[in-house]
Amino acid sequence: MRRIVFKLLLLTIVFVSQVRSQNATKAWAKKKADIFFLADCSGSIWIVDYRTQLKFITNLVSEMDIGPDATRVGVGLYSETMTVYIPLNNTMTKAQLMQAIEAAPFYAGNGYISRGIDGMRRVGLSTALRRTDVPLISVLFTDDAARHLQFAMDNATLAKKEGITMFTVSVGRNVGRNELRLYSSDPYENYIFEIDNFNSFDTIRSSLSSSVSQVEHVLNDKGTCGENTHMDVLFLYDEYAHGKLASGKIKRFLQNFSEDLSINTGNVRVGVVSKTCHEGEITFIQHLKRESFIQKLNEDNGPDISTLLKHIRRYFFVDTEYGARDFAKRRLVAFLHGDISNNREIINEFLRAKFQLIEVHIVFIVNLNTDYNKATLERIASGSDHVLYLSSADDLLKHKKEFLGMFCKDV
Ligand SMILES: *[C@@H]1O[C@H](CO)[C@@H](O)[C@H](O)[C@H]1NC(C)=O
Ligand SMILES: *[C@@H]1O[C@H](CO)[C@@H](O)[C@H](O)[C@H]1NC(C)=O
Ligand SMILES: *[C@@H]1O[C@H](CO)[C@@H](O)[C@H](O)[C@H]1NC(C)=O
Ligand SMILES: *[C@@H]1O[C@H](CO)[C@@H](O)[C@H](O)[C@H]1NC(C)=O
Repeated sequence: MRRIVFKLLLLTIVFVSQVRSQNATKAWAKKKADIFFLADCSGSIWIVDYRTQLKFITNLVSEMDIGPDATRVGVGLYSETMTVYIPLNNTMTKAQLMQAIEAAPFYAGNGYISRGIDGMRRVGLSTALRRTDVPLISVLFTDDAARHLQFAMDNATLAKKEGITMFTVSVGRNVGRNELRLYSSDPYENYIFEIDNFNSFDTIRSSLSSSVSQVEHVLNDKGTCGENTHMDVLFLYDEYAHGKLASGKIKRFLQNFSEDLSINTGNVRVGVVSKTCHEGEITFIQHLKRESFIQKLNEDNGPDISTLLKHIRRYFFVDTEYGARDFAKRRLVAFLHGDISNNREIINEFLRAKFQLIEVHIVFIVNLNTDYNKATLERIASGSDHVLYLSSADDLLKHKKEFLGMFCKDV
């Protein structure tokens, strides 16, 4: 009798846990996503910890809405190579999937992150298997640094270019932040999850699950400029001084040029400063005396480009709240058109920018009636090969190749 009760109890527990496992949490309900887990299967991990890692993946899956029209999950085990243990196009129920994950084999051997990412991109989330219009996500586990750092980074860049959003779970603090962000999407703080040991997975479970559930579809990125480096790039022009027409052309040029930059990989961040906030409006009540009205019209209304540049130097390139990254190269592209050789303040601001290790490129639009001083432009730029002369804003797109040659030369 006792035995029967016990068996019954066991059955109920198994039954309840299986039913529950079919249920997705609210965040995951009907979520369309293709997710590939890269479990660290290397010999540096104790077998008990390996099982804990698998259990954690199972727990994550338990919250998901598993199915061919919702979330699909694949699992790869990497050490010397990447082995697809559960393919993305499996037809398992959630319960079967969870059971399978917990029963994954242990291969040991050296852990190669580069091979793990390479396999994830080419096989695990291969173009044949992935859906084209859903978020593509990889979750990489590691407790050790990469053996081939450059390979690992370049493979990660390829994956990110294809629109794969990459999470990294680092166990044991053996891997530095500088390395982790190479494998993780941008902004890195949101895609890197660090814990001290294999018993601490619970501390990141809900935040990781919620972050993964919020990933959206990312477009492919064809841009190649910046693939091998991190750059924060700021474009500077004065909309007011260039005029509406030319500013429109600069904007179109930037839209077009952005296609060449490796932005979606997170390698390149771009910003634009173009507004000088000239306030042209004067309301009826502001100047009730003629003298005051005339004086207002004579005032220099608004900051010039030196003020913008100072702001850029002080905040854009150094303040993390502005998105500045201390490990990224700093680049400024200024679109100028008037003669500045007599404007000490502007010249000094550019020199200060260079002193702050900001690489300065100048695109100078030569207006018919303006004099300009080549020597000044070459002095404020980071070298004479960092200045491009164009005869009008119309020429921007026509000379994109030249600009690319100048800007992307060493990236
Ligand atoms: C699963 O979800 C259904 C519908 O939302 C609910 O009726 C059921 O009680 C849930 N089962 C478990 C075990 O949580
Ligand atoms: C999954 O995809 C592979 C490779 O395309 C294919 O060989 C296999 O039959 C597919 N499995 C299912 C269940 O569709
Ligand atoms: C990706 O990793 C593989 C395996 O380590 C390596 O052979 C390949 O060269 C890497 N690809 C790139 C673009 O670095
Ligand atoms: C960018 O400019 C080039 C050359 O003018 C043109 O062929 C290309 O279609 C443009 N791309 C976009 C997205 O405007």
